[in-house]
Amino acid sequence: MPGAGLFISLEGIDGAGKSTQARLLAQALQGRGFEVVQTREPGGAAGAEEIRRLLVEGPPDRWSPETEILLFTAARRDHLERMIRPALDAGKVVITDRFADSTRVYQGATRGDLRGLVDDIHARVIGTEPDLTLILDMNPDAALERGLARGSGEDRFEDFGLPFQQKLRAGFLDLAKADPGRCVLIDASRAEGEIAADILATAIARLS
Ligand code: TYD
Repeated sequence: MPGAGLFISLEGIDGAGKSTQARLLAQALQGRGFEVVQTREPGGAAGAEEIRRLLVEGPPDRWSPETEILLFTAARRDHLERMIRPALDAGKVVITDRFADSTRVYQGATRGDLRGLVDDIHARVIGTEPDLTLILDMNPDAALERGLARGSGEDRFEDFGLPFQQKLRAGFLDLAKADPGRCVLIDASRAEGEIAADILATAIARLS
């Protein structure tokens, strides 16, 4: 049956530990016999990865929020067409590190007051929501330290600073409240294994 897979996204502020938790969840589900595709945004497909570089490197003022919405959406459309849809149609579990909620919060509610534009463009060219969104929540002080400590060279959004991350956190909490059927809030200040167990239990409940 087309679209029979399960689409899971992980969301949250920079440095909240999404990438680690996406990997742990993918491994745990694979260990239980599920076919899993682990991916990320911006990126996840060859063209989208090229667009990623434009977005995560360089000075914070490199793009306006409106231009960012278009670039993130272009990358997302490529990701959806070439990676997410085919995997879901094949009945796989897709785990993505970020999806459209990041655009809603980063560009729609934090970089600018542009939620209407984000929603219009999403409806026209993406039109897909995850079945389950895990929002990793933690204090931005600790998260920012963790994010910048990685020294990945992909710090354009971290470089907006702490007040920006605090606004992001509030934006993600608002989203979780607005869509409780899809979004589950995860306390990401706990030990890695504890968070992973919580996330796995939530995903398994959705899968069964
Ligand atoms: P990511 O690689 O997930 O960074 P991190 O590991 O620090 O969380 O994402 C790159 C950056 O892009 C991140 O700072 C969030 C930002 N972003 C947006 O602003 N809008 C979007 O739609 C997406 C997908 C990411």
